[in-house]
Amino acid sequence: MAKGKITLSVIKADVGGYVGHSSMHPRLIEQADEKLSGSKEKGLLIDFHVTRCGDDLELIMTHTHGVDNQEIHKLAWNTFTVCTEVAKELKLYGAGQDLLSDAFSGNVKGMGPGVAEMEFEERKSEPIIVFMADKTSPGAWNLPLFRIFADPFNTAGLVIDPTMHIGFKFEVLDVYEHRKIIISCPEEMYELLMFIGAMRRYMIKSVYRGDGEIAAVASTQKLSLIAGKYVGKDDPVVIIRSQAGFPAVGEILEPFTFPHLVEGWMRGSHHGPLMPVPFYEANPSRFDGPPRVIAAGFQLANGKLIGPRDMFDDPSFDEARRKANDIANYMRHHGPFEPHRLGLEDLEYTTMPQLMKKLEPRWEKE
Ligand code: F6R
Ligand code: MG
Ligand code: MG
Repeated sequence: MAKGKITLSVIKADVGGYVGHSSMHPRLIEQADEKLSGSKEKGLLIDFHVTRCGDDLELIMTHTHGVDNQEIHKLAWNTFTVCTEVAKELKLYGAGQDLLSDAFSGNVKGMGPGVAEMEFEERKSEPIIVFMADKTSPGAWNLPLFRIFADPFNTAGLVIDPTMHIGFKFEVLDVYEHRKIIISCPEEMYELLMFIGAMRRYMIKSVYRGDGEIAAVASTQKLSLIAGKYVGKDDPVVIIRSQAGFPAVGEILEPFTFPHLVEGWMRGSHHGPLMPVPFYEANPSRFDGPPRVIAAGFQLANGKLIGPRDMFDDPSFDEARRKANDIANYMRHHGPFEPHRLGLEDLEYTTMPQLMKKLEPRWEKE
């Protein structure tokens, strides 16, 4: 790692739900806290914060070892493993569901957990926001990330702050073809939208300012594609740096006043509105949802995580929550019909192919 740089790693997994897939038992948080405390004492971590969104355990860690560091990934894996033991003891639901292998092989990527990491030089003051979602997939970040870093109707700073006039570059993954591309805004805004509007296939992985400074990193694991079958949703996270040459905190939160439709509700097979909620309301219950997102704000102080502040614990998001409930009612009335239920193609990674096969012999030419 480069001198003076710190790394922020957010690694998450669903290692057991309480009750069903709706929330998390406090003992899992305690167990994770205990495990990471040990590593902080030994000096591997500078600091950490353990939290959860719905049934997902979120390890927010700072250190000086760079991204994709084997020790850090191993620590996260071992933490999920000991938490799985607790989940098994309590017979929590889906204990260990996101740990796709029995053995750790050097990096948690592709093994089930979601990962977002960035390394940067901590500024004089370094405000960051970690968004964490449940019952949805990484494509859910496409719309808000576009609005934050490319839409001047959302981010006044794109117009008013000359340091942002150099624009932002978006690294977009094609998760079907396992390839990536960098697209610059504002110059190539229309091209960018052409791809990221297809949220299932194209996902924004990271955003850089025009001068190359890292601004945002999202987790882009797709469990269904990793395992070749449906094994749970991805329930993504994204880290965003803020202020003084980056979008302001309020500009970063603003897109979430619109509860846009995302996939991942009930059985990972339905579209629903993404509801911004305070930490204590991150318990998706109605029809296992609707999908929700929390925002943990931190100030970094020499790698120490000062916070979190619960950024959606603010009545100015009440209207978004109300609207999300209206949309949820409207979508629910479709029952098993599209577009509430995902399109056929999108159900391919669920049990749909089995059902197709079963009925195959009964189809006749008409
Ligand atoms: C899981 C989820 C849930 C489950 C549903 C069925 O994250 O979103 O909607 O898909 O509760 O779960 P199983 O198949 O485990 O009974
Ligand atoms: Mg679960
Ligand atoms: Mg989850």
